[in-house]
Amino acid sequence: MNKTSFILKNLIQDYQQRVDQALEQIISNTSNIASELHQAMHYSIFNGGKRVRPLLVYLTGKALNTPAEHLDSPACAVELIHCYSLIHDDMPAMDDDDLRRGKATCHKQFSEATALLAGDALQTLAFETLACEALACESPARNNSSDNYLSDAQKLLMIRALSHASGAAGMAGGQAIDLAATGAQNMSLEELKVMHEHKTGALIRASVQLGALSVIDIEQEKLNALDNYAGNIGLSFQIKDDILDIESDTQTLGKQQGADIELNKVTYPALLGLDGARKMALECHHKALASLEDFDQNADPLRWLSEYIITRQH
Ligand code: IPE
Ligand code: IPE
Ligand code: MG
Ligand code: MG
Ligand code: MG
Repeated sequence: MNKTSFILKNLIQDYQQRVDQALEQIISNTSNIASELHQAMHYSIFNGGKRVRPLLVYLTGKALNTPAEHLDSPACAVELIHCYSLIHDDMPAMDDDDLRRGKATCHKQFSEATALLAGDALQTLAFETLACEALACESPARNNSSDNYLSDAQKLLMIRALSHASGAAGMAGGQAIDLAATGAQNMSLEELKVMHEHKTGALIRASVQLGALSVIDIEQEKLNALDNYAGNIGLSFQIKDDILDIESDTQTLGKQQGADIELNKVTYPALLGLDGARKMALECHHKALASLEDFDQNADPLRWLSEYIITRQH
């Protein structure tokens, strides 16, 4: 392992631990009146996700000199939305998968009704977390849990960014395009790009936006550059996901290998072949790096993350 991947691996582990602690805090604060629902929510969060979206929130903050403790609540919020999207994505009405992160999918472990509700509840919990930042941030350094790190105006902007990215103009819209296109033979490359930008790219862009919004008076050029970076890694992330579906194995992936082919999904490898898809992912990586050329070494972890996204094994 080279020095860069070693440092990134440690950073990833540190932030995974950090966000997991904050997520535990949030989940323990939620109502436990319906115990199966509560268990299903907990199960679907703590089943071994890579936490790439929270990592992006923290690393964008790092590039802009924002302390990590200011970003616990946005980092948790985006992971809660992601976990909800995976629960619903796996259900029989969508991709109908039995395995997620190496374990039974939520509807298999519990029931379809509970999985539906767990997704709903994680989604609303994400926005509650952003609005009541203290839910995620019980730090000993704070005298008072109402002593928030983010202003109300920042929270509102974050809620707006995350809700936009999750809804019909973002992830949910992209999932609808994906379902409508499943089995179709005639999707163009441009249409496929639009689908990926929505179903996966939107939440990845939102993660970077949330990190950037921690700086109240961030310059527009910096914001644009970060958004450009995020757009490119959002696309490369889903291209790599599609490639792994073909070339990895079920145990490494923690989800059923070959699921896209089985469902006749439209993917980059399906349209361009594996080599074409790999080339496209590499182009996105280079564009992501170019977007960050005016940033100093504090943005190095973002650069390494872009490389990790296209070289990861699961
Ligand atoms: C999988 O996302 C779903 C996609 C959007 C491609 P991840 O690969 O980030 O899944 P986890 O969170 O690590 O399980
Ligand atoms: C899912 O894409 C994107 C989401 C919005 C959840 P996939 O359907 O390709 O994700 P996996 O492969 O099941 O993780
Ligand atoms: Mg899907
Ligand atoms: Mg799926
Ligand atoms: Mg996939």
